[in-house]
Amino acid sequence: MKWLVAIFMIVFAALSCKQNGKAISTATISVKDSVTITNYVAGKKLFAGNCATCHPLNKHADPQMLIGIEDRWTDKALLYEFIRNSQAVIAKDAYAKSMYEAYNKAAMPSFENLNDKQIEQILLYVNIILK
Ligand code: HEC
Repeated sequence: MKWLVAIFMIVFAALSCKQNGKAISTATISVKDSVTITNYVAGKKLFAGNCATCHPLNKHADPQMLIGIEDRWTDKALLYEFIRNSQAVIAKDAYAKSMYEAYNKAAMPSFENLNDKQIEQILLYVNIILK
């Protein structure tokens, strides 16, 4: 249902854009915003299905919260690789290794099925929800 709403908003925004032939009025949602909404909804779903059990976002005391994750992982490719296969990154990266040890070597499962876009959507959701 949320998907349908998001898709409708994109179509609506795209149409109103064409009709005016110039910038969309503030009353209409921009194409960029509706794409963000679509990605946010997708990220929320992916997060709930794959990550939420171990990374609860509502408990501020949880040490596994993903607050500021992209500040700690300046290498985006490495972060994406960690999510797909944490053990492979722990084996070669000092930060990942120290974090793994700090969490008493509790291994995170691999999410090899997630593509770049899906990980981007998850991180978008996490960043919006944690702000
Ligand atoms: C079964 C529990 C579990 C699940 C499910 C899980 N994780 Fe983790 N995650 C961990 C643990 C434990 C760590 C701590 C590092 C380690 O031990 O490898 C971690 C660490 C991380 C880190 C690094 C945190 C930091 O401070 O640098 C990221 C990023 C991350 N997880 C993302 C995800 C994403 C995205 C998902 C869903 C696709 C997910 N995790 C699902 C257990 C889990």
